[in-house]
Amino acid sequence: PSTDLHGEPSSWLILADKSGIGAALAEVLARKGGACRLVYSDQLIGRRKTAAWIPDDLVKPFAKLISGFADRSAPLRGVINLWALDLSIEYRGVQQLNDAQKIVLGSTISLLRAVVQARGRAETPARIWAVTRNSVSITPEDPPVKVAAAALWGLGRTARLEHPQIWGGQVDLDASRESSPSVDAAAVLGELLNRGGEDQVAVRKGVRFAARLVRATAPKKPTATFDSNGSYLITGGLGALGVEVAKWLVTQCKVKRLLLVGRRGQKDPSYRRVQRALAALGAEVTVLRADVSSEKDVQRLIGRIEKFHAPLKGIFHCAGVLDDGILMQMEWQKFERVIAAKLAGGWLLDKFTRYCHLDHFVVFSSILSLTGSAGQANYAAANAFLDGLISRRRKQGLPALAINWGPWAESGLATVSGEKGRAIWRSRGTEYIPTDIGRRALDLLIGSDAGHAAVTITKWPIFLQQFASPPPLYRELQKEIGAVTANAGLAASAANLKTKMKELAPAARHDLLTLFVRQEAMQTLGIKEEIDAARPLREFGLDSLMSVALVNRLETALGIRISAVKLIQGPSVAQIVDDILPDLGYAKDTDPVEKRDRRSRKKASSRWLVVAGARPFPRLRLFCFPFAGGGSAVYRSWSEFLDPAIEVVAVEPPGRLGRMEEKPIVDIKKFGSELVSEMRPLLDLPFAFFGHCLGGLTMYETARRLIRSTKFRPIHLFVSGARPPDRVSDQGPFENRLIDDLLRLGQFIRNRPMYAQPDDVFGELIRHFNIPATDQLLSDPKLRKLMLPVVRAEFRMASNYKFVKERPWDIPITCFAARGDPYVSRHHALGWGRFTNSRLQVYIRDGAHFAVVDDMAFIHGIINKELRVQSQH
Ligand SMILES: NC(=O)c1ccc[n+]([C@@H]2O[C@H](COP(=O)([O-])OP(=O)(O)OC[C@H]3O[C@@H](n4cnc5c(N)ncnc54)[C@H](OP(=O)(O)O)[C@@H]3O)[C@@H](O)[C@H]2O)c1
Repeated sequence: PSTDLHGEPSSWLILADKSGIGAALAEVLARKGGACRLVYSDQLIGRRKTAAWIPDDLVKPFAKLISGFADRSAPLRGVINLWALDLSIEYRGVQQLNDAQKIVLGSTISLLRAVVQARGRAETPARIWAVTRNSVSITPEDPPVKVAAAALWGLGRTARLEHPQIWGGQVDLDASRESSPSVDAAAVLGELLNRGGEDQVAVRKGVRFAARLVRATAPKKPTATFDSNGSYLITGGLGALGVEVAKWLVTQCKVKRLLLVGRRGQKDPSYRRVQRALAALGAEVTVLRADVSSEKDVQRLIGRIEKFHAPLKGIFHCAGVLDDGILMQMEWQKFERVIAAKLAGGWLLDKFTRYCHLDHFVVFSSILSLTGSAGQANYAAANAFLDGLISRRRKQGLPALAINWGPWAESGLATVSGEKGRAIWRSRGTEYIPTDIGRRALDLLIGSDAGHAAVTITKWPIFLQQFASPPPLYRELQKEIGAVTANAGLAASAANLKTKMKELAPAARHDLLTLFVRQEAMQTLGIKEEIDAARPLREFGLDSLMSVALVNRLETALGIRISAVKLIQGPSVAQIVDDILPDLGYAKDTDPVEKRDRRSRKKASSRWLVVAGARPFPRLRLFCFPFAGGGSAVYRSWSEFLDPAIEVVAVEPPGRLGRMEEKPIVDIKKFGSELVSEMRPLLDLPFAFFGHCLGGLTMYETARRLIRSTKFRPIHLFVSGARPPDRVSDQGPFENRLIDDLLRLGQFIRNRPMYAQPDDVFGELIRHFNIPATDQLLSDPKLRKLMLPVVRAEFRMASNYKFVKERPWDIPITCFAARGDPYVSRHHALGWGRFTNSRLQVYIRDGAHFAVVDDMAFIHGIINKELRVQSQH
C-alpha cells in the first residue's frame, strides 16, 4: 500500500504503546507533514487500581482530546489505538484477563463514541484503527495466539457495520524477532494510508495477509472416539443447544455420563424434564451449578468432577447470554455481562483442564464473530475470543474445535427475538438451521481434523446485498457466486456513478441518481419490486433504524454527508435526490414527471392515515394505532400477513416520520377529534381497530369519539400490551420499581412529572418500556433532540389522562398480553372485559412488553380468524 500522505495536511491522535511503535509512527508521520499527538494509557487511566475505573469514563477525555484538534488547520484524520500492545502475554488469574479487556475493548468503544459525538463538527470524521500483536493465527510459524486481544476482532467487525465512515480497520503485527518499532510503525502506516479498503490485515515478516471468508472443504472423517466410561461436561447444558449436544452424545456417540452445568443448576425450570429425557435415552445425568466466568466456581467444578466422577474426556462449552445494544449505547457493564461466559468462561475451562487428557474441547461460537453484527458488538467480541482461544490450544497441541454456528431453529439464543429476529436473519439471506442439519454438522465436525468451522445456511448473494460495496472479507465468496449479482453491479455503478453523472445532461443525471437511490432504498427496505420514486419511503416502512442504514449506504457510495434527520421523515426517493444533488455540486435542475406526480399525490393523501399496502378489493379496514414515539412504519409489513380482504391503515400522529416537523399532540381529545375527521373518507367499509401500549388508549378514545359523534363504530377492538383505560394510572410494582431506579439517578427531580424529567432520567424511563430502537434513539444526539419531545408529549398525554366512565360497548375485544411484561399484568388484560358487553378474549403469551409486537405471526393469525368470521356474518 501507499505510504504517501499526498501532500494533504493531517493530524493524528495516537494512543501510544510503551514499546515505542506509536512514537516511531509519529516520527514518520511528522516527516510526511502530519501533526501527531501521543497519549499513553497511564495518562488517562492513571495508576489507579484497574478495578476502580470503567472504560465509559474514557469517553469524556477522548472527546476533549478530539475537540483539541478542531481548531487546527490540519483536520484530525485518524486515531490509532496501540494500547493493546502493552498487554502482557500471559495471565495468572481471570481478573487480570478481564482488566485487560477494559483496556483493549473498553478504550476502543469509548474512542468510537467520542469520535461519533465529534462527527457533527468535522467535515470528514477521523477514522479509528486498532493495532494488536499476534492476536490472530496466520502462518504455521506464528507462536500461539495472544488471546487477550482476540475479542477485539469481533468488536472491530461490528464497528465496521455500525460506523462504516469511522471504523478504519485493524492490523495485527508480527510476533517474530524480525519486528522492531520502526518496522512495525511502517506496517501500520501502510494500512492507515491504504486506499484499497482492506480493514482486517495481519503482517508477518513484511507480508500482508488480509482476511477472507472462504468455503471450507469437508473435513476428514472423524476419527476421535468417545469413551463410554468417561464423563462429558456441557456448559449451558440445560440451554437449547446444550440439550441437543447431550442428546447427540448419548445417541450418536454412546456416551453415558453427562455433566450439565449452568448458573441455575437444578433450579433451572427445565432441569427435571431434561434429566428425564436423557435418562430415558440411557444416560446418567448430573446437573451442577456453576458460573463459568468465576474462577472459584470453575476450580471447584473441575475439582469435584475429578473427585466424584469418571475421568473428564470432553468439554462442550455452550454457555452464553445475549444483551444487545448499539455501540453508542454499549456501556461497559452491558458489554461485560455478555462476554463473561465465553471469555472468562472459555479461558478458565482451558486453564483448569489442561492436565485432564481431554479428547474433545469444543466451543459453541457464532458466525457473528466472523461477520460482526450491528447491535451485538459484545456477543461478536465474546465469540471472537473463543475463536482465538481455540487457535491457541491447537498450536499448543491440545484438542480444540470452534463451531461458528448460524442461527438454529426452534429455540435458543437466535430465536429469542421471535418473528422479528427471523425476518432480520432472512433479510440477510440466512435461514435457521433445522435440528437434524445441526446434528449432521456435529457428526461431521466433532473428532475430525477441523479446528474452526462456520456452519450457516446463507444465500450469499442476498447476504451481500446489505452492503453498498461489500467488505473485502467476502471477496472470495463474491467470486464464487459470480460478479453478476445485482449487488456487484450496484457496487460498480456506485463507483462509476459520480463520473457518469459528470458526463450527462441535467435530466439524464437526475434520472441516473434516482435509479441509484431507489436501488439503495429498496435494498435497505428489503423490497424486491421497484418502488415508486414519488411515494414517501415511510409508506414502505422506512423506520428510524432503516433510515440510519440508508444514510450509511448513501454516504459510503456518494462520499457526502446526508441528513439522518431528514431521512427519518421518510421522504420519497425523488425528494432525496433533490436534496443531495446540490451537495454533489449540481443544481436542482429538472422538473421531472415524478415531481409533478408528487405534487398531485400530496393533495390526495391524508396526514393522519397511511394506507400500508393498498388492496384492490378490500372488504374491511384495520386501523392501527402506534405506541408512544412509534409511527406508521411499525405496521407497514402487516398487509403481507393479513388476509387480502383486510386493508391496513396505520395512524400517523404529528411529530413522527412524515409529520416530523409538526408539533406532537398532548391532549387526547384533540387527538381523537383530528383523527376522526380524517378517518371519515375511509369509513365506507366495515373496520376494526388495533392499538399497542399507548395506542390502546388512543384507540379507545378515538372509538369513543367516533361512536358518540358519528354513526360509525368498529366491529372489533384488538389491543396488545395495553392497560385498560380505567387503569392507565395504576401505581403498582412496575411503578415502584421504576421510581426506585430513577431515584438512583442524580438528575431525578422530585415533584416533577415523569414526562418533564431531564433527558437522562426520561431516557432511563423509556428504557423500562423497552420501546423498540430506544438505544438508537437515545444515542444519536440529533435523533434524540428530534424524537424525545414526541415521546415526552405522548407520556404527558397518558399521564394527564382522566378516565371518564362509559357504558360498555357491544363490540368484541381481543387482548394480547405477555407473561414477562412488567407494565401490563394479567389482571389488567382481563380488565378490558369491563369495556365490552360482547366477547372478551385474552391471549397471554411468553415474552416481554414488546414480545406481542415481535410475536406478530400469532397476532396476525388471530386477527385474520376474527375478522374473517365477522366479515362473513
Ligand atoms: N441458538 C443458536 O441459534 C446459536 C447460534 C450460534 C451460536 N450459539 C451459541 O451456542 C451456545 C448455546 O446457545 P443456546 O441457544 O443453547 O442458548 P440458551 O438456550 O440461552 O442456553 C445458554 C445457557 O448458558 C447458560 N449460561 C449462561 N451464562 C452462564 C455462565 N456464566 N455460567 C454457566 N452457564 C451459563 C444458561 O443457563 P443459566 O442461565 O442457568 O446459567 C443457559 O442454559 C451459546 O454459546 C450461543 O452463543 C447459539
